[in-house]
Order: sequence, then structure tokens, then C-alpha cells
Amino acid sequence: MSDIQAIERQILDAIASATDEAALEAVRVSVLGKKGSISELLKSLGGMTPDERKVNGPLFNGLRDRAAAAIAARKTVLEEEALNARLAFERVDITLPARPEPSGSVHPVSQALDEVTAIFADLGFAVAEGPDVEFDDYNFTRLNIPPDHPARQMHDTFYVAKQADGSRHVLRTHTSPVQVRTMLKQKPPIRIISPGRTYRVDSDATHSPMFHQFEGLVIDEVTHLGHLKWVLEEFCKAFFEVDKVEMRARPSFFPFTEPSVEWDLRCDRSGGQIKFGAGNDWLELAGSGMVHPRVLEMCGIDSTKYQGYAFGGGIDRLAMLKYGIPDIRSFFESDLRWLRHYGFAALDLPTLDGGLSR
Ligand code: PHE
Repeated sequence: MSDIQAIERQILDAIASATDEAALEAVRVSVLGKKGSISELLKSLGGMTPDERKVNGPLFNGLRDRAAAAIAARKTVLEEEALNARLAFERVDITLPARPEPSGSVHPVSQALDEVTAIFADLGFAVAEGPDVEFDDYNFTRLNIPPDHPARQMHDTFYVAKQADGSRHVLRTHTSPVQVRTMLKQKPPIRIISPGRTYRVDSDATHSPMFHQFEGLVIDEVTHLGHLKWVLEEFCKAFFEVDKVEMRARPSFFPFTEPSVEWDLRCDRSGGQIKFGAGNDWLELAGSGMVHPRVLEMCGIDSTKYQGYAFGGGIDRLAMLKYGIPDIRSFFESDLRWLRHYGFAALDLPTLDGGLSR
């Protein structure tokens, strides 16, 4: 065997016995690096006669090419092995059941909001949403509250700086602008529920400048207040998880409904706990009414053909009542001890068949 063949044998053996990428790299440096054995051979060509070079040149170059190819091939094999080892080691069995670690909890307002949505969804209402920063036009004007109308003073509005075109945005003072948004883009029949954040300049034990409302809207050719009463009753029974409720209607005024009705729920507050369906107390539940024909017209709906009702109420208050929380401000203080006490398990989504709150 010639010297060259012996060297090649040695190099190939070293490559084959490198068991990881670091060892292979060490072999590569010792062979092809600046001072590597093959590099030295190639350098020696410089000191040879032209005839010697003619013989040795191709031999050395061939050796270098084969060594480089062997290193590349070995590298691929080692990389694959490393990847397979990692895949085996990091394997996750996705068929294993989840092991929930209750490190977070669902806020009572989110819980109540999910419950309200689940109940109305079950009654056939679709969920609609609108932005918190709303056009003055949608929050007021198209709800039959023109500029300078005294009803604007009923809402202590947060105004946003004027736009370049002179129009004004507000933080929506109620979820009713979602009625407008829905009617502007959808033809009747309409049946939506819209829970979300609302804002008013107000703060005490029962008012927070940011709070939550739910809004319902049903428009078709026949719907009337009787339907509304039944829907609200069904909602109350499901939400408060009781078999029987009694509701009282009070005449009211909202510019966007005619007639307007406010609904109270009979309850008993004696004994420190609140019970529904009996007692001599009344709990304010929601404002409502038949959608004003002017609102229908301003939202592109033919008021001689279509009619329907709308209702709206506070979600925070519902959550306070259902879960016995005395001060609305505690909802938004982000006190972790409070959240752990009043929060709900993150993976238990409220459903009517699975139970709303457990
Ligand atoms: N938007 C009214 C409020 O915030 C409630 C309401 C909604 C009344 C829909 C009538 C119809 O007080």
C-alpha cells in the first residue's frame, strides 16, 4: 500500500469513528484545517519538481476531495442522528389528558359576561360587537339623541379629541351603538346580543367609570313587548339559576325606544342573602322598549314594515348580585387575593347544559 493510500485509510477511519459533530469537526481541522495533514501535503507541492507535481498534484487533490466528501456525508448522518435523538427525548404524547394547573382564574365580570352570552346564544341570539371608542353619531345621533338634546346629559360622556374633519368620538356610554352598527349592515330579521365595555364619568361604590353592559336587539315584522318579557324572564331564570322569577315593568324614557320599559326583578334581601322569585324588594334589571321608528329609519330600515325591541343592562351589577360582591370598584383593583377568592376556574366555560357557574 502506498503512503497516500495509508494516509487516506487513516483519515477515513477517523471520520467514520467520529461519534458526534464536535469530534467530526476536530477531525476536519486536523485534516483540512490550515495546518491539517492534507493541507500540509498540498503545500509540499510547491517545493516539488514539475514532474513530481504532475504525479502528486492529482493524488493530493483527489485525497482532499474524497476526505471533504466523507466529512460532509458523515456530518449529514450525525445531524440526523442528533435530530432523532432529540425528537425521541422531547416527545410529547398529545393523547395524554390535560393536567390543568390552576395558576390563573377567570374574573367574575368575564364569567358573568360569558354566562350572559351563553344564555342568549341558547335563545337564538347571535353575538355582535362594536368598538369602545365610538362615533358620536352612533352613540347618540342615530339613536335619536341629536346634538344639544337634553338626553345627552343623562350620559356623563368621556369625549375624545376632535378629528381633523371636525367629527367627534366618544368612549361609548352604552352598548346601544351596536344596535346602530348591526342595523346599518344587516337586513332584518335581526336577533343579536352584544356584551361589552362602556364608560361614563362616574365613580362610587356602585358606579365605575368603566363598566360592562349587555345589549339585545330583535327586529322582524311581528316581534312585540310580550316576546321581550318572556326572553328576559328566561334569561333571569337561567342566569340566577332559579326555577321561578317575577318581573315588574315600569314605564320609562329612552330616546331610542317607544314605548320604553324598565324591568325589575322581585327579590328578598332579608337575611343578608338575595333570593329571587319571592320577597318584597325589587332589583333593577334592564332598560328596554320597542325600537323607535326614527332609529329604524336612521339605520336604513323601513319602519312601516319592520319593528322590534331592544334591551340593555349592566353586567357588573348582575355579577355583584350573583356572586355576592359588595363594591363595584373592587372589580377593577387587580388585587390578586380578591381575584383568587372570587375568580373562576380557567377551563370551565359556562354552558347551559354543563352548568353556568359551579
Ligand atoms: N342604553 C340604555 C342605557 O344604557 C339601556 C337601553 C338599551 C334602553 C336598549 C332601551 C333599549 O341605559
